Amino acid sequence: MSYPKPIDDQSYFINSSNYQNLLTQASKNPDAFWLSMAKRLNWIQFPTRGGNWTFDKPVSIKWFEDGVLNVCANCVDRHALETPDKTAIIWVNDAGTTTTPISYTQLLKEVNAMAGALKNLGVQKGDRVIIYMPMIPEIAYAMLACARIGAIHSVVFGGFSPESLSGRIQDCNAKVVITANEGVRGGKSIPLKANVDQALLQTPQVEKVLVINSTSLNVPMVAGRDRFYTPDHTKIVAPEPMNAEDPLFILYTSGSTGKPKGVLHTSGGYLTYASLTHQWIFDVQQDDIYWCTADAGWITGHSYVVYGPLANGATTVMFEGIPNYPNPDRLWKIIDELKVSIFYTAPTAIRSLMQAGDEWLETSSRKSLRILGSVGEPINQEAWEWYFHQIGQENCRIVDTWWQTETGGILITPLAGIHNLKPGSATQPFFGIHPALLDEHGYEIDTYPCEGNLVIKTSWPGQMRTVYGDHRRFEETYFSQFPEYYFSGDGARRDADGDYWITGRVDDVLNVSGHRLGTAEIETAATIDHAIVETAVVGFPHSIKGEGIMVFAIAGAHSPHSDEELKAIIKRTIRTQIGPIASPDAIYIVKGLPKTRSGKIMRRILRCIAKGEFEKIGDVSTLADPSIVEHIIEVFSAKK
Ligand code: PRX
Repeated sequence: MSYPKPIDDQSYFINSSNYQNLLTQASKNPDAFWLSMAKRLNWIQFPTRGGNWTFDKPVSIKWFEDGVLNVCANCVDRHALETPDKTAIIWVNDAGTTTTPISYTQLLKEVNAMAGALKNLGVQKGDRVIIYMPMIPEIAYAMLACARIGAIHSVVFGGFSPESLSGRIQDCNAKVVITANEGVRGGKSIPLKANVDQALLQTPQVEKVLVINSTSLNVPMVAGRDRFYTPDHTKIVAPEPMNAEDPLFILYTSGSTGKPKGVLHTSGGYLTYASLTHQWIFDVQQDDIYWCTADAGWITGHSYVVYGPLANGATTVMFEGIPNYPNPDRLWKIIDELKVSIFYTAPTAIRSLMQAGDEWLETSSRKSLRILGSVGEPINQEAWEWYFHQIGQENCRIVDTWWQTETGGILITPLAGIHNLKPGSATQPFFGIHPALLDEHGYEIDTYPCEGNLVIKTSWPGQMRTVYGDHRRFEETYFSQFPEYYFSGDGARRDADGDYWITGRVDDVLNVSGHRLGTAEIETAATIDHAIVETAVVGFPHSIKGEGIMVFAIAGAHSPHSDEELKAIIKRTIRTQIGPIASPDAIYIVKGLPKTRSGKIMRRILRCIAKGEFEKIGDVSTLADPSIVEHIIEVFSAKK
């Protein structure tokens, strides 16, 4: 199968006339390159310094450190002046009954009102504010209002449980929570305010809760603590001058050990990187209607629904719903209705809509599309082909973008006007990004083709600065296994053309529907109920989600419960401890786990079983009890 080469079209931001030159500038003189890129923002004081960083311990990363700016003013005020009537956000509701365009002028009013409300609650520069909301315009207002007054927001996805929410509130010591009475997704209600009430039983530090009434549902309010949001549109709140290195937000993400990490991003470098990558990678021109389907609770929602697009004065679509509600033609109908030209989603959504059948494509033409993006997980060839041939009707360039919460923005991706399309390959690093593949001893592999651990050799402005409140954990997680490199935790292949193919996580992190979940976190959650003594969690290939969650669990010695009851307990505890997003796809109750004599669980063996690849299990004689493997295979095979 061959794919059309990019048309040599000079109207692309990045085209054959400027690509090589920019690539050279970015690698020969990164500081000058990034300082010139920072000019796309409005600065109160333009920085004189580019990067000031070291990956040597103590790791320290700073960009544009003497610059002063306000992120909200860059995303809102300047466009309200320059293009006041341009639509900033088009909000589409879950039910499909409302499409609301919000101009940059309106956005400024709304953000001012929200900033005023936060100030009235006593929020000050540097305070942490938790945002636990549905995908309604107010979530963007809340993020931008925090940025306006210099507060640090931490958005928690609505699919997380009260327990997860309180863990995050405690970790960042937030004193204000912004929420809604309820969320609605796919016609189902999410009890956001009730979840907050429950979470706050464990978090005395929260002084105020601001509640947006997004539906007519009545919710109980705690006197003195909770306040309904009634916007005062006469409010004018001046944007706070912020140092480039002042924190903008914290976003929690799962790692291979322990509780989620608070990934901290700062102001000037993050916004420069989000804005530049958004414009150049998606080739966002003046009249484009751009739609990224991510929820604002994830990094994609931060960088490519809110901050990148708004910093560029673009029109960004915000969707409250889900792809297959009420029917699997929902996304395609919205594309036609709004004339979306750039569309960015996750392989999971593509696979589930592909499985729904091509008859759902007959109700839309999708003619307005010109660029399609993919993010969050490896995209398999079949899904890529369907995206290209059926959705894009072979008229669209596909950008398969590799990046992470930690990287702030896209690091490896094709550029629409430059690179050949290769289904499944994220192809080439962005300007100023220097990846390498390391072998297990930490040596760079410089052969083509090859495979290894994906690291980045030098810093870029969008890189996370620390793990909030735990700089040592930051160093240990990302800079210890391979000293002096940023280690992504991913493996990758590089083919003979030098193009990168991400092969997935090499650590104990699962990627379920493009969402990261640590196996350790799920194991801890599953054993909260004493009916379960021990668990081991592994991933397995899942036709829609990419990866599914499989739990092997040992029940207590004299457990009165049946296997079915035990499974229900495990499901329930995981859902209450982490949230519905971590719900297991398969659970096996077993008598023991494959452990070495020193007690270490051999996950490799469980991964082979989960994939049904029994022949790859190999030698089990070093296990404390080798017969356990046969037992687990039996249970697994019986219940399939
Ligand atoms: O394993 C990689 C996978 O998603 C991980 C990052 O997850 P998260 O921080 O939640 O951010 C998701 C959105 C950027 C990576 O370590 N990943 C992300 N993009 C791709 C990908 N795997 C393959 N191809 C991609 N394009």
